[in-house]
Formats: sequence, structure tokens, C-alpha cells
Amino acid sequence: MTIAYRLSIIHFWALIFLYIWAGPHHLLYTALPNWAQSLGTVFSLMLIFPSWGGMINGLLTLRGAWDRVRDDVILKFMVVAVTAYGMATFEGPMLSLKSVSAISHYTDWIIAHVHVGALGWNGMLTFGILYWLIPRIFGTQLYSKKLAANHFWLATLGIVFYVVPLYWAGFTQSSMWKQFTASGQLKYSFLETVTYLKPFYAVRSFGGTLYLIGAFLMVYNLYKTVRSGKLIANEATEAAPLQKLQKSATHEHWHRVLERKPVQMLVFSLIVILIGGAVEIIPTFLVKSNVPTISSVKPYTPLELQGRDIYVREGCYLCHSQMIRPFRSETERYGEYSKAGEFVYDHPFQWGSKRTGPDLAREGAGNLKKSNGWHFRHLREPSSMSEGSLMPSYAFMLKKDLDTSTTPAKIRAMQTLGVPYPKGYDKIANADLMKQAQGIADNLQSDSIRISPNKEVIALISYLQRLGTDISKIKQ
Ligand code: HEC
Repeated sequence: MTIAYRLSIIHFWALIFLYIWAGPHHLLYTALPNWAQSLGTVFSLMLIFPSWGGMINGLLTLRGAWDRVRDDVILKFMVVAVTAYGMATFEGPMLSLKSVSAISHYTDWIIAHVHVGALGWNGMLTFGILYWLIPRIFGTQLYSKKLAANHFWLATLGIVFYVVPLYWAGFTQSSMWKQFTASGQLKYSFLETVTYLKPFYAVRSFGGTLYLIGAFLMVYNLYKTVRSGKLIANEATEAAPLQKLQKSATHEHWHRVLERKPVQMLVFSLIVILIGGAVEIIPTFLVKSNVPTISSVKPYTPLELQGRDIYVREGCYLCHSQMIRPFRSETERYGEYSKAGEFVYDHPFQWGSKRTGPDLAREGAGNLKKSNGWHFRHLREPSSMSEGSLMPSYAFMLKKDLDTSTTPAKIRAMQTLGVPYPKGYDKIANADLMKQAQGIADNLQSDSIRISPNKEVIALISYLQRLGTDISKIKQ
């Protein structure tokens, strides 16, 4: 049995075993229990061995055949794919170091990293596989090698134009977030970092467009290929030699036996995957001290709950984190760092992982607090309040009625998850909701904004104004 085959077996099992443990590397310095963070770091570092073993294995397979890469476009795709795999899986463990995560997390650096993986490794691999497979399935030749070669160059250049500006943007934004003036003030407002990054986003879009055009070329090429051939529905088969005979004749590797048994293979893989998950998930349920409760943290009011669901529906968490890390540069900007106990009623929590906009964990408290009118105008037209903002407008929420028929079910769902609303509260929740909504509408009226209290925007504002207020009550 070849070394490549043996290595690939180790690669496979080590990879699926270790990868599951690595999840917490996305949450370093957050309110996640420290033991889970450390576990994530250690296993992420170990991941470099199977990953690089796999990459080297892939590249060594081409030993003595590199001249073929020049002529064979499928091999070109494969070489870039394996190289991107190597880059992404080297960078991943590095990003799992706490000191590196402190700089990279929440920035475009991470987006660059995952796109080396998505576009470079998975994308190029998929393209190569399709160019190889489709002609065979349809018993024909690829329609145009030239088009495929053009696709290769478009995709490769696309990746470069996509990720380079993102690395640059990520690193720049992170440095801008962390800089202080000589007198100890934060040097840049968040908005300044947003407007600074716009050119980088433009180049990124250009790269993405190249990549996409390449993919369209492939679709056309494969379509023509399919049209020129005929589906081979039944391949000519030959009976395999008897297993026993074959085994003794070729000294078959024991792993081959497992590979022929899909159910057993599935069960083994599942067990190997579940070990890491179990070690990380079970203690978080069992160890009470993992979630220190804070007595001032109270469940959301029905209106806030509705507003929160709008926040989830609109994907605000994709651009806004709700997790302040314990760095001076963050506590100065956003307020007191986030504690695990603040999220006990957040199902699901909205920690987020990217700060295209500022963190909102304490949006309703401290020096971030803004009036209802500010939020109203900002949601209607963000750039009217923050010049040069990239945030989309949510003006439709000013017209759309809040669906209050869902309130009782939402309250009951939260109760099932352990949120301590009084028994039977679901039936009367809407009365509280209307009262709070009326209060906000009245307050907006004093800011010369006329709006009826049953609009979605009111619920969203109530949620934003609630964020971070629980803990500020302790300090007073
Ligand atoms: C495409 C990314 C993006 C999305 C999606 C997004 N935002 Fe923003 N948001 C930003 C950016 C950038 C800023 C900073 C500029 C500004 O103030 O508009 C911002 C600022 C804010 C602010 C002001 C924060 C402060 O204290 O300065 C609030 C509040 C806010 N967003 C709420 C929301 C809500 C609610 C949603 C979902 C309905 C949302 N955002 C969706 C990008 C986004």
C-alpha cells in the first residue's frame, strides 16, 4: 500500500477527530468559559499536523509530473486548491492563538481567511472535480479546454483581488480601533474606520466579480459538454474477484475493509466526531458556575422580545457584535466588557463575529446611549445620522405593522428554555407590549416624529435601548 494512501487515512481520521474541538477558537477573549477557550486553542494548534500532512501528501503526489500541470487545466485547479488548503490551514491555527485573535477577530482579516478556504480550496477543488467528472459521466470530451483555462485564470486572479484587500482592510481597521492619542483618548471614531475601508470593499467586489464570471464560463462549458455527450446511465461492470482471494494476493490494507462498509464507516466517523463535541458541550450544561447569574439581569419585555426577533430576522448580527472583550480599546469605546451572565435570556445569543458596524452590547447604556429619535432616523436612513455609513436603510419598518399575534407563542417558547416569565404571562403579554410601544411613540412625538405604536421600528428601538442596561443598574 502506498505511503500516500496510508497518510490519507491518518489525515482523514485525525482531521475529523480534531476539527470539532476547534470551534471555541472563534470566541477567544469572549465570555465563553476559559477552559473551553483553551481547549479550542490547543486542538486548533494540533490541527496543523493532519492538515499540512494532507497538503504535502497532495503536492508530493505530483512529484515527477509537474510538467503535466502546464498542459492539464484540471491539475492547475488542483494545485491551487491544495496550496490554498495549506495556506488556510496554517493560518487557522495561527489565528487561534489568543494574541493573534486579539488583533484579527471581528475584522475583515477573518473574512479574508475564510475566503482563501472557500474560494481557493473548496471552490477550485470543486471546479477541478466537475471538469474531470462531467465529461466522463457523459462519455465525451470537455467542450473547450481554452474556456476552462480562462476560467482558471479568472478564478485565481479573482481570489487575489478578493483576499488581498480584505487582509489589508482587516489589519488596518484593527490598528485603527486600538490606537489612542497621547492624551489617552481613542484616536479614531468607529465611523472613520468604516469610511476608510470603502475602497478596499470596492476592490473586493471586483475580485468577486472575476471569480463569478469564471464560474459562469464553467457552467456554459459544462452545459456544452453535456449536450455533446450522452449520459452513461449504466457503466459496463465486471465482477470483482472474490474478496478473500484478493486479500491474500495483494495484502490489502485493513482500512480498505472498513471503506467498503458504508454503515460501519459512518458509525465510526460519527463516534470520532462526537467525542470532541461531547467534551465541550456536556460540561457547559452540567457546570453551573460556567454561567454566573447576575441578579440585575431580567428577561426581555414582550416588546423587546419582538424587537429582538426583528434583529435576528434582519441579520443585524452579521454586521454587529454584542460581545465586548476585556481590552482597554474596547471598554473605552463600548463600555464595561461582556459577562456570561448577561446572556442567560438570549436565545439564541447575538454575539456575532464581525464588526462592520460597532459593537451593540451596550447600545442602550452608558456613553453609547442615543435617543429614540436618533435610532428612528438612523434606521430610516443611516447616513442621515452617520455620514458615510454603509449600513442599509430599514425604512420599511416604519410602515410594517408588528405581528403581535406571535407574542404569546414567543413567551411560551422562552419559558420552555428556562426564562422565568410568570405562569400565564403569555396571555397578558400583549397588554404590556402595547403600553411600552405607546410610551416610545409618545416620546418620538416629542421629538417631532409621528408614528403609530404598532410599527416594527418601535419594537426594534425598544430592543436597542434595552441592550446593556441590565448591568449598568448594578453600578448606580
Ligand atoms: C451591512 C452591515 C450592517 C448591517 C446589516 C446593519 N448595520 Fe448597523 N451599522 C453598520 C455600520 C457600518 C454602522 C456605523 C455607521 C453608522 O452609525 O451608521 C452601523 C451603526 C449602527 C448603530 C449605531 C451604533 C452606534 O452606537 O454608533 C445601530 C444602533 C445599528 N447600526 C443598528 C443596526 C440594526 C438594528 C440592524 C439590523 C436591523 C443593523 N444595524 C444592521 C452596519 C450594519
